[in-house]
Amino acid sequence: MLTASLTLDPAFTVSPVHRRTFGSFVEHLGRCVYTGIHDPEHPTADEDGFRKDVVELTHELGVSTVRYPGGNFVSGYRWEDGIGPVEQRPARLDLAWHSTEPNTVGVDEFMRWARKAGVEPMMAVNLGTRGVQEALDLLEYCNVEGGTYWSDLRRANGTEAPHGVRMWCLGNEMDGPWQIGHKTAEEYGRLAAEAARAMRMIDPSLELVACGSSSSAMPTFGTWEATVLAETYEHVDFVSAHAYYFETDGDLASFLGSAINMDRFIEDVVATADAVRAAKGLSKRIHISFDEWNVWYQHATPSVPPKDSWPVAPVLLEDHYNVADAVVVGNLLISLLRHSDRVRAASLAQLVNVIAPIMTEPGGRIWRQTTFHPFALTSRYAVGEVLRVGLATPSHETATYGDTPLVDAVATHDAETGALAVFAVNRSLTESITVQVDTRAFGGAELVEAVTLANPEDPYARSTVDDDASLAPRPNPTAWRDRDVVQVELPPVSWTMLRLATR
Ligand code: AHR
Repeated sequence: MLTASLTLDPAFTVSPVHRRTFGSFVEHLGRCVYTGIHDPEHPTADEDGFRKDVVELTHELGVSTVRYPGGNFVSGYRWEDGIGPVEQRPARLDLAWHSTEPNTVGVDEFMRWARKAGVEPMMAVNLGTRGVQEALDLLEYCNVEGGTYWSDLRRANGTEAPHGVRMWCLGNEMDGPWQIGHKTAEEYGRLAAEAARAMRMIDPSLELVACGSSSSAMPTFGTWEATVLAETYEHVDFVSAHAYYFETDGDLASFLGSAINMDRFIEDVVATADAVRAAKGLSKRIHISFDEWNVWYQHATPSVPPKDSWPVAPVLLEDHYNVADAVVVGNLLISLLRHSDRVRAASLAQLVNVIAPIMTEPGGRIWRQTTFHPFALTSRYAVGEVLRVGLATPSHETATYGDTPLVDAVATHDAETGALAVFAVNRSLTESITVQVDTRAFGGAELVEAVTLANPEDPYARSTVDDDASLAPRPNPTAWRDRDVVQVELPPVSWTMLRLATR
């Protein structure tokens, strides 16, 4: 049996847990909005046509913020199409996803949904086909009390109180040649700085996100951030990062190491942002909004409909996740949490149907993918301060990452309640690993709960609409406490949460 050890100390803090780490994303893409959150024909639909069962699972998932309305979609979007009487709204071609956008759901409907779901909305503006003026108009429509053209129009459209959106993304993935209105770093940096300056003339307290790279594999990665931040540093709070992971060539061992890529990505963006800070002689630090991350089998599911059709809400990017995917999702959350000093917001992309933890049948059932569980449990129990853990773990060789630690973990500690939570993965394909958690620095800890998500007979097993419970995390009977040490066995390809109570 392999062994690993984890040493915890309440003094070794990284930063408070940021609730915005547990954000998600709703894009006008495939069935995320239409037949996802919005399905007026559904038996649980409310007076606005929103599925109450989706709202309930969004609560259960523990989502804090939701980014909207895209994604690639936003770079061709005219937000004004989605306001006012629904029957007068135009249908438009959505070039990003080769679909027809009926505009039945727009900004006011989304804000109503966000209120019902208890999530903070995070808006993206179109800096692809549009610019500063349209961003200002949308901000005025959303956030100004009244007495101006756009704010009065919002009131006339039925929303008296401002939507009060705090966090705004200045475009989406503008480094990507696939993006409508794709720009060079210089072009985008100038435009983002102009938009940010003008938006802050309306409200200096807005939290603004400049586009970073759409992947650390982009040829412009690093220079993009440096150039964009050279233009925008003084005017924004965040730079974004996006990353999607998937297993290739049957190399599960490398796929399970995906969080190593995320760790490096975050650390490289931090280093680049800090280099710009040094060059400018500023004290303010830029934080990361990791506002798209997930497992996404980019070539396995259709990402655009057949070229001669422009359907409304086609089936796109409906990945069906397995146990190994859930272990990777849990591990990516470990990476985000461990970098909480600089990652202050993140969005699991996306929420419903489109590369999503929640799946719906149009007019029918709803179910949880395997990836739902590590997100929901981490969101619920990662409370208080993130702790730096002392980890000694065996490793193995992987094709992508070389010497790869088999165990990865992070812990959180709530000083008020004494609750201590450990989130850990075992990346071994074949070996169980016994982990000893040393809680001496806390004066010991009681074991409250140990749950593990694993399916050693088949890590490729998937939940289905008929059974989304069998692969959910189960109590781990190997966990026990001997004075200051809690011990637990992590099966191969697994994600585990330990809950402890300190005095
Ligand atoms: O989340 C799916 C797509 O991935 C988003 O629209 C885009 O921003 C990214 O490339």
